[in-house]
Amino acid sequence: MALRMLKLFSFRAVSPKGRLVGYQVESYKGLMRIPVRSRHCMSFNDMLEFRREQAQKSVVIQVYSDHSYNHLTKLCNEYGPIKETLYYTTPTDLHFILVEFEKKESARKIMESGSFGQKMPPVPCVSPFLWMRASSIKSSEKDDVCPKPVQDSEAKKEILLQNLHEAQSFSDQIKSLYNLTAMGELGIRLRFLTSRQLELALSGAFPFCKALPFGSSVNGFGKAGCDLDLVLQLGGMEEGQETKTEGARLVYHNKNSQSSNGRALVQRHMEVLADFMQHFLPGFSNIQRILHARVPIIKSKHNLTLIECDISMTNMTALHMSEFLYLMGEIDNRVRPLVFVIKRWAQATGLTNPTPGRWVSNFSLTLLTLFYLQKKEVLPSLGTLIRLAGPNDKRFTAEGVNCSFLRDLSNLALSKNKDDLETLLKGFFEFYSTFDYGSRGLSLVTGNEIPKADHSPLFIENPLERYLNVSKNISMEETVRLKVELQNALWITEQALEEVTSVKKDLKWGLIKLLAGPNSAAFKMPKPKTFRLVEMQDLFAEDSSVSHPQPLVKVKGSNKVNHKRR
Ligand code: UTP
Ligand code: MG
Repeated sequence: MALRMLKLFSFRAVSPKGRLVGYQVESYKGLMRIPVRSRHCMSFNDMLEFRREQAQKSVVIQVYSDHSYNHLTKLCNEYGPIKETLYYTTPTDLHFILVEFEKKESARKIMESGSFGQKMPPVPCVSPFLWMRASSIKSSEKDDVCPKPVQDSEAKKEILLQNLHEAQSFSDQIKSLYNLTAMGELGIRLRFLTSRQLELALSGAFPFCKALPFGSSVNGFGKAGCDLDLVLQLGGMEEGQETKTEGARLVYHNKNSQSSNGRALVQRHMEVLADFMQHFLPGFSNIQRILHARVPIIKSKHNLTLIECDISMTNMTALHMSEFLYLMGEIDNRVRPLVFVIKRWAQATGLTNPTPGRWVSNFSLTLLTLFYLQKKEVLPSLGTLIRLAGPNDKRFTAEGVNCSFLRDLSNLALSKNKDDLETLLKGFFEFYSTFDYGSRGLSLVTGNEIPKADHSPLFIENPLERYLNVSKNISMEETVRLKVELQNALWITEQALEEVTSVKKDLKWGLIKLLAGPNSAAFKMPKPKTFRLVEMQDLFAEDSSVSHPQPLVKVKGSNKVNHKRR
């Protein structure tokens, strides 16, 4: 089963001998790199399970340098055959090798075979993160070639620019951007191994515990280096769900909770977990307790995998949301590249920001893109997936949220829309730059506009919890700014598309022009044109109720808007 699944992946991994092993290579990257049109896709649950199993067979070992590769693989082979290795380095020049064994047993044995050094440390923690001492015996054998290091980061600026410049068309540029910036194999594995570390650490008291990644780490819309959202289930399933052992004679004694307030209890448990991580678990650092948010989270940075982590204990709807997004990406292979380019454009123009606030989030942008693709009939509505759901698709969260929708896409009709990526991108800018944000909202359930259910400037119905507005955080100023930037983007895209067909491409053709926004270090040209094509006053001149955006500072003596903020 595992091998069959593995064959569906197309990553390039490195064998213990340093040879590159290629699986069925597809042009698009992602968690599932298979020809989407054939619809033999792996379900979200199978994908999660496959990656979790892989993590159970893996350890990360810090080594002195790439010269240690030979020693390390020899040592590891004593615990069982190695399946794959991935070598990575950090910007601070630390060297790590991720080793996946054929069997879980080997990973367990190697983990338990480590030592704590000469003296027992104050916190003798055992985890899948180890380091190998330098050997005093000089090996006479010739070193195996260490595989080239891979990184959980997007391609370098120069490579990105070169690829975009050399692409054959605007659409190819969009595909290149996706291929060079999407999260790769190492990123996926390190995220699942970080989750595994947490599960292992808690497994004494909670042997069924699951730390499940959700959000961009698993929905197929994650870029290299994106954060890891995790939901922790101490019992391996949601609180309140029916257990399979309901009728068993023997029942575990359990702590009776002192508090009748479920939220207060979760906050207390998370405080304990945060302390535990801070004091006992190697790697987890900069622990921040954000326990009064709607969904309480623990934020931390893992300094061995370099991953930013957001851990929650009550966020099962978000996991089902990730599954919905994952399926949408699987349905058509234009979906992910389009979402990537739109998120990148939003970043370049300063519409999005790494910290959450009154601006549009990547999640909202993703839903805007999916809605547009539903309008174009590239994607089905969620309502269609709900109607096609079978008995095995029934899912309800502990809070009673109905998350039932079709999971098996094999019988879903293929889209008749054959637009290329550049047409869809231009269409996206066109659609949203003329959208009536004042009175209309978006519903991914119907795939159509709906009357707004509240007075928020932008209304995107949460597809699973329909009484919620996903974009409630967005201020009027930011909605106005979004519309302005969409109009500018439409103009630039139209120009760029005309240039591609009419004049010889210069260095700044197509997508490079679109992404050379004020916030884009990677695409900044030597002398960027800072002209603004549409001013807010022109767009909203008749609407005196619009309060002008505070973060957009007008440049003195000009009609330009300064994007520098935050
Ligand atoms: P994030 O804000 O972390 O977004 O929410 P993301 O998709 O991971 O994107 P980046 O890369 O961090 O910017 C994590 C997940 O939480 C769920 C979605 O599944 C989202 O992908 N979520 C978020 C909701 O269900 N509702 C919301 O309002 C926000
Ligand atoms: Mg995230």
